[in-house]
Amino acid sequence: MLEKYKELLAPINQFLQCETPNEWVIAASKPENLSVILIDHLVCELKAAQSAMFLIRKYAVDKESGDALLAWLKPFEDFTYRKEGNWKDLIKHNTLSKSMLPKSGTPYGQDLIDKMVLLIKEELHHFYQVLEIMDDYNMPYENISSSRYAKGLLTHVTNHEPDTLIDKLICGAYIEARSCERFAKLAPHVSQSLGDFYVSLLRSEARHYQDYLTLAEEIAGHDISERVAYFGKVEAGLISSPDEDFKFHSGKPQT
Ligand SMILES: [Fe+2]
Ligand SMILES: [Fe+2]
Repeated sequence: MLEKYKELLAPINQFLQCETPNEWVIAASKPENLSVILIDHLVCELKAAQSAMFLIRKYAVDKESGDALLAWLKPFEDFTYRKEGNWKDLIKHNTLSKSMLPKSGTPYGQDLIDKMVLLIKEELHHFYQVLEIMDDYNMPYENISSSRYAKGLLTHVTNHEPDTLIDKLICGAYIEARSCERFAKLAPHVSQSLGDFYVSLLRSEARHYQDYLTLAEEIAGHDISERVAYFGKVEAGLISSPDEDFKFHSGKPQT
């Protein structure tokens, strides 16, 4: 089934410095872990949208555009953090009514806006799709804690601009690439419908990884391969080392 996705996955597998451990795939395919996998996946989709939005607001758009962006995300945040609203209405809210105006004097502004606005739209669509699947399984949404993964990466981000932005974009590339790798790994081990959903995510997640990396290279304007390799090592450490907490991006499960 994944044969035709080989080409799509090859650069991702090359980018990542380690493969997901089999122990994680086994744990993630267990029926008793389905709810944690789906709920964590759901929240990760929102977090992906939030981080992209943070980058546009901080680095690329004027105040008015920033407010429009916040309003776009609000119903999704209300549902996730305050359990407000009916999830079925969220599909109506995945629209951004105005075009984003770049801040003056940011040469990369428009490219950052275009790539990130598309990414947010897609992540919020994925968010809704996960809710549909949870509804099929009659699975209620509950708050869960986040894994060590994103924090473990972001703690290595420097606090000197413009390197902070570049580091964050590199982290974004790793998170997207790992998600893509895990969806592909997990797809053959779950139900046909869930597997089909995971496979349907591969193309956009692979593009998100590529977009983050391209932006990091463009904005840096110099070779960043050493920094990319550094975060690759940190990321591989988080994925391959023992982890007590089981989540979508967790390390090697301890049984
Ligand atoms: Fe996504
Ligand atoms: Fe993504």
